[in-house]
Amino acid sequence: SLSKCKLIDLPKISDPRGNLTFIEENRHFPFDIKRVYYLYDVPGGAERGGHAHREMNQMIIAMSGSFDVVLDDGFERKRFHMNRSYYALYVAPMVWREIDNFSSGAVLLSLASNFYDESDYYREYDHFLRDVRGGK
Ligand code: TYD
Repeated sequence: SLSKCKLIDLPKISDPRGNLTFIEENRHFPFDIKRVYYLYDVPGGAERGGHAHREMNQMIIAMSGSFDVVLDDGFERKRFHMNRSYYALYVAPMVWREIDNFSSGAVLLSLASNFYDESDYYREYDHFLRDVRGGK
């Protein structure tokens, strides 16, 4: 699953008045958007994430500031430093994510393929590993 996760270079319209980036459903990433949520006012040193999803697809964008996203498919781990508003990280289902190293004023935007559903979450790394290594 980690091979499916990648940084997507979104369109960027540069302008002396400020830059503009747009995202079109299913054109810049492979799913329909059901939900948008964002993280902000994250205190220094805080860690977010610490879960995986069974079905949900997601895109993560640093709207402001920066943070690191660590992705782990149970076999390998990769750290992405997110610090540009025109980069989106696609996170496939069955990938564990941890988010840390938030700068002050960072805003993380998440575009999700599903409504919030706690039963779609793996909150325990052991359970995630068992299923992903078991080939489920
Ligand atoms: P959590 O998944 O722990 O946040 P993160 O992964 O970003 O660190 O979610 C924190 C709380 O917010 C948890 O009680 C579930 C709730 N929540 C919703 O009600 N709706 C949502 O869309 C999300 C993402 C979380």
